[in-house]
Amino acid sequence: MMLDAVETPAVLIDIEVAERNIQDCQDYCDEHDIALRPHIKTHKLPRLAQAQIDAGAIGITCQKIGEAEVMAAAGIKDILLTYNILGPAKLARLRCLHDAIKLSVTADNPTVLRGLSEAFADAEWPLAVLIECDTGGNRCGVQSPQAAVELAEQIGQSMGLRFAGLMTYPKAGGTADVQAFMAGAKALLAEAGYACATISSGGSPDLRQAHLAPVVEEYRVGTYIYNDRSLLARGACNLGDCALHVLATVISTPTPERAIIDAGSKILTTDLFGLDGYGVVIDHPALAVAALNEEHGHIDCSRAPGSLSVGDRIRIVPNHACVVSNMVDHVYLMDGDEVFSVEEVAARGMVV
Ligand SMILES: Cc1ncc(COP(=O)(O)O)c(C=O)c1O
Repeated sequence: MMLDAVETPAVLIDIEVAERNIQDCQDYCDEHDIALRPHIKTHKLPRLAQAQIDAGAIGITCQKIGEAEVMAAAGIKDILLTYNILGPAKLARLRCLHDAIKLSVTADNPTVLRGLSEAFADAEWPLAVLIECDTGGNRCGVQSPQAAVELAEQIGQSMGLRFAGLMTYPKAGGTADVQAFMAGAKALLAEAGYACATISSGGSPDLRQAHLAPVVEEYRVGTYIYNDRSLLARGACNLGDCALHVLATVISTPTPERAIIDAGSKILTTDLFGLDGYGVVIDHPALAVAALNEEHGHIDCSRAPGSLSVGDRIRIVPNHACVVSNMVDHVYLMDGDEVFSVEEVAARGMVV
């Protein structure tokens, strides 16, 4: 099937670019002796998770149990779940995963640890638990190295659990803060008799700075595989490194200054990521994706009036690639202008 036959709107993945991104990142991590554990949230495709492992990743990261279940069923054997898991139903699923693959999880509070311990007390081998640390990302995570020691002590006294180290998801630009917090926590933990088997950080914006936080031995990246407009805006990639494009058709040109495409918020999403507009229109630098309704995208042509006609097809690099992957049942894996696979986005919609 050729590109011309692809129905729009559609999500296209340039496989050559994605494979190059996988390899470049792996080369960087190998060069600096950092273990790579990609986050599959960006692509949600077992095929690309396997490609990341084949290139040298030690395993993958998932955010939700549903994602991990899909990846485990597809044959991925080593998964870190970076999410506080609560409640008997989810804990039972976690136990099943633990029986099937090499699983590790994170936790940042005593309640989650108590639930994990109850669920794993009679497990054949203990569940590896990393303590999540807030190094400036202001999401989950213990607030001080001392608090990490307290949770490590709780893990040490909990049946069915094993202290496996520290995890953080820092804010962009937070590499120095990661080093300071994690080095401090590692030293305090050592004093208390706890060795960190793994210290894990992540984030595509600062991927190439990872070696500047030498305490970090493992790095988790998601967006790097496709890249997107948010990473373009940060100077972390070039347009040619963007593997995911939304293909759309112009369905109306009500005025020379305005064209309407068949891709709206249901595919481009309303994620602004602090940017102006909803994407970069490839080959049309003067055009802007100015507004979205659910099924309509408004292209502002005021800087190039009349430049689009009804029936034209355009490609857009979205602000945030990961959320776009979650919007479609299938993506088109492209080899140039040829579709070589219509790939089911197997881990989409796995919010539980
Ligand atoms: C816990 C965790 N690790 C790693 C990542 C990957 O970050 P990025 O997509 O910036 O590479 C994310 C992204 O949300 C995350 O939440």
